[in-house]
Amino acid sequence: MRLDKFVCKSTALSKAEATHHISLGNVTVNGVAVVNSATQVHENNHIDLLGTKLVARPFRYLMLHKPAGTICSNIDEVYPSVFTQLAIENASELHIAGRLDADTTGLVLATDDGRWSFNIIRPSQYCQKVYRVKLSHPIAEDTATRFQQGLQLQGESQLTQPAIVEVLGARVARLSITEGKFHQVKRMFAAVGNRVVALHREQIGPISLDIDEGSWRYLTEAEVAAFKAETPQTVSNKPPR
Ligand code: URA
Repeated sequence: MRLDKFVCKSTALSKAEATHHISLGNVTVNGVAVVNSATQVHENNHIDLLGTKLVARPFRYLMLHKPAGTICSNIDEVYPSVFTQLAIENASELHIAGRLDADTTGLVLATDDGRWSFNIIRPSQYCQKVYRVKLSHPIAEDTATRFQQGLQLQGESQLTQPAIVEVLGARVARLSITEGKFHQVKRMFAAVGNRVVALHREQIGPISLDIDEGSWRYLTEAEVAAFKAETPQTVSNKPPR
């Protein structure tokens, strides 16, 4: 991680304050003053600020139940950030592994561990995301087959990966996809002549949403471990076409 990030993660300093200390030579890495904030350091390095050893706070891993009308961003924009809405401390240190649209509700995972979130979002992982979808029109009979075969979405060079549709009612379905393209679920249903009117994420990989809307909790050790592989997985979750 960057040296300025490490200093922030181990003190109450803002990024600007950390950068200032670093530029003054107040921070040493293994006994040597380092003045470049972007220098990569490891948690095992001995890092001092003005002679005091810094110890980074442990990574945080959270599940949020995102309400509609919030955005997956660290700052409030047209809509409030999901972090401010849920009153999460030091939210500027966190990022979201797989964003949802402002009008989408449900499971959001947040962390300050970039390696962990990369194991969720990198396309080659084919991490399964499960959505409950309400539609404006009855679900056509061939939808499941077309989703399984892959769809050509506008502006994309490749077909979508095989997706599984479970019809729960005339206008309600559960959809499992292994990609995370922009507005993917809405675009997939638009491609078969339907329209999403409500979208809710229930699951990411083995992690299922089990808290009330507008609340959050820390993930369990087992949930964190599900995406903790230190090296890229050699076994692919890629679904068969
Ligand atoms: N697909 C969408 O279209 N929107 C979301 O928020 C998530 C997946």
